[in-house]
Order: sequence, then C-alpha cells, then structure tokens
Amino acid sequence: MPIILAIESSCDDTSAAICKDGKILSNLIATQKVHEEFGGVVPELASRAHIQKIVPVVDTAIKQAGIQLTEVDAIAFTQAPGLIGSLLVGAQFAKSLATSLDKPLIAVHHMQAHVLANLIDDPAPSFPFLCLTVSGGHTQIVRCNSPYEMEVLGETIDDAAGEAFDKSAKLLGIPYPGGPLVDKYAQAGDPHKFKFPEPNIPGLNFSFSGLKTSILYFLQQQKQANENFVAENLPDVCASIQHRIVSILLRKLKKAVDETGIREVCIAGGVSANSGLRNTLQEYAAKYGWKSYIPAFQYCTDNAGMIAISAYYKFLQNDFEDLQTTPSARAEW
Ligand code: KG4
Ligand code: ZN
Repeated sequence: MPIILAIESSCDDTSAAICKDGKILSNLIATQKVHEEFGGVVPELASRAHIQKIVPVVDTAIKQAGIQLTEVDAIAFTQAPGLIGSLLVGAQFAKSLATSLDKPLIAVHHMQAHVLANLIDDPAPSFPFLCLTVSGGHTQIVRCNSPYEMEVLGETIDDAAGEAFDKSAKLLGIPYPGGPLVDKYAQAGDPHKFKFPEPNIPGLNFSFSGLKTSILYFLQQQKQANENFVAENLPDVCASIQHRIVSILLRKLKKAVDETGIREVCIAGGVSANSGLRNTLQEYAAKYGWKSYIPAFQYCTDNAGMIAISAYYKFLQNDFEDLQTTPSARAEW
C-alpha cells in the first residue's frame, strides 16, 4: 500500500497531496492572490509565491492525511509543462525531500495527470476513454488506453478554452480570472441572443482566437451605438459567448467519439467547472448514448491529487527518475 507525497507547482497554485494505495487522503491547494491586480499570472511572482507556500502546504497535507513524513514511500512532482520558474520550485523541493528521506522520485506530466484525475473517484471510466482537457493553458482531446498509454487526438492551435473565457471577460470589464464570473452571469442570460462565429478548423483541432476578435469588434460596434451596452446586456452577452465556446468544444468531442467509437467520455481541467459545459455534456451523453465523467471540482483545477494518482500508477511499474532530471516548460507528450 504505497504512500505517495505529490507536489504540483506548474502555474499559480501551490498544491500538495497524499495518496495511499491509489486513494487520495489529502489534497491541499493554495491559490496565489498576488496575480489578481495584474489581470493574469506574473511568472516571477508565481515562483516567489511557490517558495513561500510550499513548506506550509506540504506540512498541512501530511497532517491532514494523518501520516508521518517518514511513512512516505515516494515523492512525486509535476515535471512539465508549465512556467519554468514555478516548475523548478516544485522539482527542487521534491528532489531535496527525496534525497533527505532516501525515497524514489516520480516525475509526472501535468496534462496526463489532468486526464488521470478521472480515475480518482468512483465511478471511474473504463479503458479506453476519451478526455476533453480544458484549462487556462490547454485544450486537448486525448485518447487514454491505459494509465501508461495516451494519445493526443486534437488540440488548440492558438488560445485555450479557459483563455477564451478569460479574454472575453476582460473585454467585458470582468476581473481576472473571468471564466467563473462569465459562467455566473450566463446563468441569467439568453444563450441565443447574440451570434458569435464557429470556426471551421480541420480534424479534431480547435481555434479560439477568431472568436476573441469577433467579440472585440462586436462590443466596439455595440458600444458606439449605446455606451451602456455591456452593463445593460451582460447576462445575455455572457450566455452567448459561453454557448459558443461550449458548442466549439462539444462539436469536436462528438467528432472524436464518432471517429473512435469510444463512448466513455470524460472532461477535465479548470473549465470543466463551467455549468454550460457540464450541462451540455450530459445532454450529449443522454442523446448519443455516451457514459460521461467529470472529476470532483477539487481535482478539476490544478491540484496535486491528480499528480499523486498518476504517480501511483508509475510507482506500480517502478517508473522512477534520477536526481539529474529537470523540469521543462514545454514537454513532449
Ligand atoms: O486547470 P486550471 O485551474 O489551470 C490551468 O491549468 O490553466 O484552469 C483555469 C481556467 C481559467 O481560465 C478559468 O477562467 C477557467 O479555468 N474556469 C472557468 C470556470 N472555472 C474556472 N471557465 C469557465 N467557467 C467556469 N466555471
Ligand atoms: Zn492544469
């Protein structure tokens, strides 16, 4: 029954988790507030905040799990992809701890971990399954054959889905990160009030940059006619933007299901918290006979629980790293 301590520090959340025999005992996430006033993540500030938070976060995760540090069998960390300064803090901390405890080190790919977050709680999808991973930095459709074998079927060629939410929010004067607030306002709005274009991208790839431009021009035009346009139409604008982002995502997910014949369908990443996406996934599942899965919210946004579960499967295969290993901002899949 291996006990694994996992650390996630790829962007602006400092997180530590303890997993025992594939069950998550604790999952601590310290969000960095320091970026809010800048309207986006400032990499250098993120690295410094990780340095300040990593010791108390790991300490609390151990206490909450009810274990002793000496009981830990392996130390896992996010190796890639992410902000290099942020990754370095987690990697160095993990290496130091592994050295001092004389325990093996496990390196985890952040995007693969988002996919495997679906295995944390029951009911879990059976293999092979498809996963739409939608976060502030990534948008991918992944085919997962086993915890050790995954393939990217499609991904964004420009902005990520979360960025599309956040950039739209910025144009509407909503503070960063705007995704959750767009979702909130959208709930009181009419998703068909305003029409935004759906891009025509080949295969299973996505594009969101054209949508952002069309929203910018639309708002400029509307504000010329009525300077209070945004204030008077916020719920309808948010609902219409959300509707388009969700329809872009689900159309490609359906294409992936049709092409692969796989009907076990998961979503993961911070944007899977979006109510429009969750509801539409359920509608598609009912309509097309899919079985759909969404991890608990704490395992959707960046978290060390997903790093721990991924590390657990690597532990079972003795897939360890030596201390020379280095993090990478952009990782090969
Ligand atoms: O996975 P995550 O926590 O971090 C990254 O790896 O990027 O995802 C953060 C993204 C942000 O863009 C945020 O606006 C978006 O997820 N997000 C949402 C919602 N909750 C978080 N977007 C739309 N609706 C939500 N409810
Ligand atoms: Zn992420």
